[in-house]
Amino acid sequence: MWDDGRLFHGGDYNPEQWPAATWREDVALMRRARVNLVTVGVFAWSRLEPAPGRYDFGWLDEVLDLLHDGGIRVALATPTASPPPWFSLAHPDALPVTADGVRLHHGSRDTYCAAAPSYRAAARGIAATLAARYAHHPALAMWHVHNEYGTTCHCPHTEAAFRHWLIDRHGDLDTLNAAWATSFWSQHYTDWAYVSTPRATQYLGNPGHLLDFRRFWSDTLLAAYVEQRDLLKAANPALPVTTNYVLGDWVPVDHARWAREVDLVAIDHYPSVVDGGAEEQTALAADLARGWARHGRTRAGTPRGPAGPTRADPPATWLLMESAASQIHTTGRAHTKEPGRMARHSLSHVARGSRGAMFFQWRAPAGGAERFHSALVPHTGADSRVFRESVRLGETLDRLAEITDGETTASVALAWDAASGWALRQPGMPSALLDGHAELAAAHRALWRAGYGCDVVVPGDPLDRYRLLVLPALYLADDATAGWVHDHVEAGGHLLVSYLSGVADQHARVHLGGYPGAYRDLLGLRVEEFHPLAADEQVLLSGGGTGRIWSETVHLRGAEPVGTYVGGVLDGRPAVTRHRVGTGTTWYLSTRPDDGTYRRLVTEAARTAGADPVCPAAPPGVEAVRRAAPGTSWLFLLNHTDRPQRVPADGLDLLTGVPADREVTLPAGGAAVLREHPR
Ligand code: GLA
Repeated sequence: MWDDGRLFHGGDYNPEQWPAATWREDVALMRRARVNLVTVGVFAWSRLEPAPGRYDFGWLDEVLDLLHDGGIRVALATPTASPPPWFSLAHPDALPVTADGVRLHHGSRDTYCAAAPSYRAAARGIAATLAARYAHHPALAMWHVHNEYGTTCHCPHTEAAFRHWLIDRHGDLDTLNAAWATSFWSQHYTDWAYVSTPRATQYLGNPGHLLDFRRFWSDTLLAAYVEQRDLLKAANPALPVTTNYVLGDWVPVDHARWAREVDLVAIDHYPSVVDGGAEEQTALAADLARGWARHGRTRAGTPRGPAGPTRADPPATWLLMESAASQIHTTGRAHTKEPGRMARHSLSHVARGSRGAMFFQWRAPAGGAERFHSALVPHTGADSRVFRESVRLGETLDRLAEITDGETTASVALAWDAASGWALRQPGMPSALLDGHAELAAAHRALWRAGYGCDVVVPGDPLDRYRLLVLPALYLADDATAGWVHDHVEAGGHLLVSYLSGVADQHARVHLGGYPGAYRDLLGLRVEEFHPLAADEQVLLSGGGTGRIWSETVHLRGAEPVGTYVGGVLDGRPAVTRHRVGTGTTWYLSTRPDDGTYRRLVTEAARTAGADPVCPAAPPGVEAVRRAAPGTSWLFLLNHTDRPQRVPADGLDLLTGVPADREVTLPAGGAAVLREHPR
């Protein structure tokens, strides 16, 4: 059984970088830190197959046996994210080509084309060989396919595959021409052979072409994953198979769609900012992962219960596969995490459904590109603050096994789909500042700061458990997405929509007749003109707030203004509106409000909708997340401040074993996990 009921603690383990004597010390230290899962072999292809068809499994046999003897389970990786030097030399056609037509060379990692038949065959070959040898090794808990799928390519193999994909999607050239609006700039295609990948070109590319290429590449990478998964499953159907998602708008992967093909959604998460934004990014990444996990399960046909947890509705479980033990990497600088921060980040993930807290990497290497990346065992060795904190985290995770029964609670849903994010970043948009991830993050941050639990949902997902649905610049809306939003409102749900949501269809063609074409009736308004703002510009809002990035000429068609623009060309015109529809209320934000204003607005929208914050009495700087199961619940309280904090709450603190009677005191930078009701 892969799942022994405990939370996982561990990370990427690269024994191929160390002498055998270190392996024994590793296992002893892992036991001290209660490490119970390690990813092995993720970049070991050149050590497993040093020459074509010549394998060296001796070291891996020994390592797996040592880990098994030490009670440590293994996510055995297929090493296909970094083919060995001999492969690239033998198959130069499998080296990736950039949009500029430059063929890249061996020397880093991820230097392959996922559409190249030779690469795919080699990847299947090493996966099948590993499966034949290890599928029944008792150390294995799961397979970890590849690493962070995302690399793109524009080589002739890719081009041929793209054409096939387009034929499947559009059927005939008339349909493709209409979808891509190719009458513009003389792009009308009369033969499939004329269609290439969107390579570097003279000026703005075609939006439909760019968007379809992203979708195609997501599907191509998925096919590469699926063929490995099927080989691994064939060798042992009982072992789960996963792959670790990398997040970011550069990633050409539709993670929600992939969620149907993995047994366990797994993400890597590295905050990119140092201040409180790191905690906000952590919460958002975890909420995204849980959303993908639930989406995958719903589509797979697992029965859902009515709103609220029931036994028939198991928690949406996923796994934080990688995070940083001690550093936050910002642009150009590594920031050492303060004591306690690594544990709080881990608990934030666990509170939001992660099956544990895993790290990149177990031991910091002396050489190699990532020699200064943090590790559970840093360069200093085990006599270090970071290792001592990882030992404490292992103890903490061990005490929390029971919380895996609970589903993270949320009364607000944020809708997100990858294609909308891709489309907003396309050239030729009215502003180069548009960024779907940033819009999602701004809405999530507002809700996070206001203390609301949120789920990130994919258009089409069930919405019956949410009082409020938020569309943060959800740019694309086909008929199905528009219908899904309308159904939510017609069923009495509340809705908050931010600018540019529902402006274009699935091919990035603008819905005509006034923006936002898909939702103007629901919102009771019509937007006539855009007034994008310069990077250093802001608009003043009545009530004292400000707006950035965007502003618009909004005409009311039933909605009432909640806030207006002050000064400038839009002086006195609606900036934020509200509209009653049936028993629900719809809200519209025509600009990106400053964080304080955004927080006030989402609080008002949530209150109107009847949604409650997780722990209304939590003081500023204390994050509260609840997991609930029938008859019981667990309240996670994370103190992100450098002072002790008192929180009114009842329950047994699983971290200390001490009952809280109407109040719990959190140490500076510390946490509590309260079992709120007897089990
Ligand atoms: C990713 C990769 C790891 C490592 C880390 C560094 O998550 O999967 O191999 O490069 O980034 O942060």
